[in-house]
Amino acid sequence: MGKYVITLDQGTTSSRAIVFDGSGSITGMVKKEHRQIYPKPGWVEHDPEEILENQIEVLRSVVEKCNISVNDILAVGITNQRETVVLWDKNTGKPVHNAIVWQCRRSAGICDKLIKDGLEDEVHKKTGLIIDAYFSGTKLKWIFDNFPDIRKEAEKGNVYAGTIDTWLVWNLTGKRVHATDYSNASRTMLFNILSLKWDEEILKILNIPVSILPEVRPSASLFGYIDKKILGKEIPVAAVLGDQQASLFGQTCFEPGMAKNTYGTGCFLLVNTGNRAVFSKNRLLTTIAWGIDDRVDYALEGSVFIAGSAIQWLRDGLKIISTSRQCDELAEEVEDTKGVYFVPAFTGLGTPYWDMYARGAIFGLTGGVTREHIARATLEAIAYQVKDLVECMKEDSDSGLSLLKVDGGASVSDIMMQFQADILRTNVVRPKVVETTALGAAFMAGLKTGMWSGLEEISKIWAVDRVFEPQMDEERSKKLYAGWKKAVERSRGWAEN
Ligand code: G3P
Repeated sequence: MGKYVITLDQGTTSSRAIVFDGSGSITGMVKKEHRQIYPKPGWVEHDPEEILENQIEVLRSVVEKCNISVNDILAVGITNQRETVVLWDKNTGKPVHNAIVWQCRRSAGICDKLIKDGLEDEVHKKTGLIIDAYFSGTKLKWIFDNFPDIRKEAEKGNVYAGTIDTWLVWNLTGKRVHATDYSNASRTMLFNILSLKWDEEILKILNIPVSILPEVRPSASLFGYIDKKILGKEIPVAAVLGDQQASLFGQTCFEPGMAKNTYGTGCFLLVNTGNRAVFSKNRLLTTIAWGIDDRVDYALEGSVFIAGSAIQWLRDGLKIISTSRQCDELAEEVEDTKGVYFVPAFTGLGTPYWDMYARGAIFGLTGGVTREHIARATLEAIAYQVKDLVECMKEDSDSGLSLLKVDGGASVSDIMMQFQADILRTNVVRPKVVETTALGAAFMAGLKTGMWSGLEEISKIWAVDRVFEPQMDEERSKKLYAGWKKAVERSRGWAEN
């Protein structure tokens, strides 16, 4: 029997545990969804304890399901939804507030004030980020401003904060390790991505005590050991990294210029820029891709907040489909959307618009429009949003992408991937393993613990499933995209007072 690496992939809608063998193949996977809490329009929370329980449950069940011996588990890698913050009492271990999720817009007013105070440039230069409610910093400030007792306890040194990885590492290691990695820290808007330190000036502006923040380590590090009580044996946690950076790694985008897009809850397009932090002129984010030993790699990122969750909304909100797969089936029944555009700006718009007040809208409705057209418009909306990101990358680099590697749950949709290639005018390449986020964290943990010898060996594991080439006539593709831009403009600023 060989050795295994297990990834804990804590995402926005579910927690998963996935076992990988030495060939990078999936031996087994267990997944559990958690509640989405919407206290007010535009607000999103998770229960950190529910997430922790689910994560432990799926870890235990996957080991049982795959019937593997704990002695054969070399390491665990953790990858996670980024930016979402948890604050907890470090003495009792209990959260002092629900996790505020990356999609939550409650700190938009705080961001407006920072922008009004002229801080955009400074924040961008230091953190690589655009001031937006998306990132953790203003979410923390919101909690402290609204709950003075929590601030008091934090100032007394009784509170710990962290992104979801930090919450998991702390709990899984038996409350021994309060740490995060460079990739997650770079999403907080509190971390200086050049000096690789928490930024004292930004912390001061936001009035956040540095003592609540975790130690920041390279992504491939020995973070600690999974408490013996969980699997009956201590297992090293050998990698931690944000889910989008993990999928860049899992897609083996190790060289500058290599790019991937993940179709998950949202869409995240990252291009590797090597050991140089490149600052965008087109409102892309500069972020840390990962840290391995003494080397830090950077990436440019375009972020779309709603992608797969628009399909979920058709299922759970609008109830016009009963499974996600049905969205494809319906879309395939019609040739086009009959002029309908769906802008799924449920939580504002990310790159390149950065509009915290945009809201979702469906345009072009006429009497002949059916659910088939809406289904198709949903898939097309996801592809248009990715096109928006690629356009920014093009302007920043003066050259287009030669190809786009894709992954994530929704990338299994052939109809969407074909439309993506048609709209981008670029080849879209889907690998055999589309669970690339989990694979990336497994690669990183396996590298650290000797499962694989180096990047070269890992690169040989990555394999293509299918290449989608542009087929649509270029004029038609341009016309369709122009319609999208018009629809986006009309959805902007909707929730502004
Ligand atoms: O930045 C948010 C991102 O990390 C969420 O990813 O996979 O949970 O949609 P996902």
